[in-house]
Amino acid sequence: MRKKVTKAIFPVAGLGTRFLPATKSVPKEIMTLVDRPLIQYAIDEARAAGIKEFIFVTSRGKGALEDYFDHSPTLEAELERKGKMDLLEILNDTNMESGAVAYVRQHKAMGLGHAVWCARKLVGDEPVAVLLPDDVIAAETPCLQQMVEAYEETGGNMVAAMEVSPEKTSSYGVLDLKEDLGQMVSVKGMVEKPAEGTAPSNLAVIGRYILTPQVLKHLDDMKEGAGGEIQLTDAIASEIKASDNVYGYRFNGQRFDCGSKAGFLQATVAFGLARDDLKDELGQYLQELSFAKKAAE
Ligand code: G1P
Repeated sequence: MRKKVTKAIFPVAGLGTRFLPATKSVPKEIMTLVDRPLIQYAIDEARAAGIKEFIFVTSRGKGALEDYFDHSPTLEAELERKGKMDLLEILNDTNMESGAVAYVRQHKAMGLGHAVWCARKLVGDEPVAVLLPDDVIAAETPCLQQMVEAYEETGGNMVAAMEVSPEKTSSYGVLDLKEDLGQMVSVKGMVEKPAEGTAPSNLAVIGRYILTPQVLKHLDDMKEGAGGEIQLTDAIASEIKASDNVYGYRFNGQRFDCGSKAGFLQATVAFGLARDDLKDELGQYLQELSFAKKAAE
C-alpha cells in the first residue's frame, strides 16, 4: 500500500524584501488577502488535501506566525461572553491541535532546497507535500487535493505545473517533458530559472510539490545551483536520474503570484469579488473605475 501524504512543509523563512517597509515588522505570510493572512490559504488547501502535520520552516522575526496558529484564550473567552459565535468559528480555522504543528528554523538563507532540507528529520521516511504560500491558487477542488488524488494513482514525485509565456520561463523551475499525457506529463529533466532562450519547455513549476524521502536525501549534497542557492529543483532533477519517477500536474485553477505586488493586488481583487459580503460594493467600484478610465481616453 502506498503511504498517504499526511505531512506538509511550508517554507516561510524569506525576508519578504519586495514588500518593505511592511515586512520590516510583519512576516510576509501574515499580510492579508481580504481578511485572511496569506498563510491561511495554504493551510486550508493542505487540510483539504488530508494533511495532518504542518511543518513551518521559519527564521528570526517570524514569531507572529506561531502566535497566529496558537489558541488565544483571552480573545476566545471575550467572544464567547459576547455571544459572537460566528467570529469564534472563524478563529477555529486558525487553531492547530497540540502536536500538529512544528517549527524549525533555517539559520541561513541558502535557498528553497536548503529550507526543505531543514525539515528532513520531522518528515522521516514518508512522502511529504511542500506548499509555497506565495503561490495562491483559486480552484474549485484545491490544487494540492487534485495532486494527492493523482498521486494515489501514480506514486512517485509530483510538481504542480502551468504553461507560461516563453519570456517568463527564466523566473521559474521549468520541466523537460518526456511524455505529454494530457493533465499530467512525465518528466525527464528540470531546470531552475533557465537563461532566456534555453528553457526546455514553457511548462513551469508552481509552488506545490509531493516529494518522496529520496528527494530530501539528494539535498544532503548541498550542491549550489541557480543564483548560488541550494535549489529544490536540482534535487528533484537528481531523483529523475535515479528513479525516473517524476510527474508534472497541470492543475485546474487560477494561480496568483503573491510574491509580487501586482500579483498580490490581483489576488486581493479576485478574492474580494468571490466574497458574498463584498462582491457588490467592490464590483460596482471597479465598474465605475473602468467607466472613468474610458471617459478620460
Ligand atoms: C520557486 C522555485 C521555482 C518555482 C517557483 C514557483 O522559485 O524555486 O522552481 O517555479 O518557486 O513560484 P522562487 O519564486 O522562490 O524564486
